Amino acid sequence: MEKTFLMVKPDGVQRNVIGEIVSRFERKGFQLVGAKLMSIPTELAEQHYGEHKERPFFGELVDFITSGPVFAMVWQGENVISTARQMMGSTNPKDAAAGTIRGDFGLIVGKNIIHGSDSPESAVREIGLFFKNEELVEYNKNI
Ligand code: CMP
Repeated sequence: MEKTFLMVKPDGVQRNVIGEIVSRFERKGFQLVGAKLMSIPTELAEQHYGEHKERPFFGELVDFITSGPVFAMVWQGENVISTARQMMGSTNPKDAAAGTIRGDFGLIVGKNIIHGSDSPESAVREIGLFFKNEELVEYNKNI
């Protein structure tokens, strides 16, 4: 079953939209297989955003994601990686369609409410950075 890593960023946690976001993915039909409210150590933030290391906003990105608690999640389901990204909307909330998470709750690109893996390779890497295998559950297929 395809899995993805999703994370409500510090702005989303502060704005009290964890429940709303979880609810959207539940209602869509995806299954939550892991979740935790946590503060991200700087080293983990730098690893997670490693591909953006050379970007001018890298420092800002790391400062922001470590500025307060995040809600890290693993979800599974058919095409969950691409569908979750559609549900999140464009990276820059100003371009995100109404009805998407960033379109409904975000204003600026640096504070865009949620992160989601952009490919199967990123999903495996990001899930591995944030979760141990034993922190993920399995569902009984017969229920
Ligand atoms: P995310 O999906 O978490 O992955 C990389 C993040 O970089 C992205 O969301 C944005 O929040 C952030 N980002 C992209 N462009 C900029 C920018 N120009 N200034 C600040 N942050 C940015």
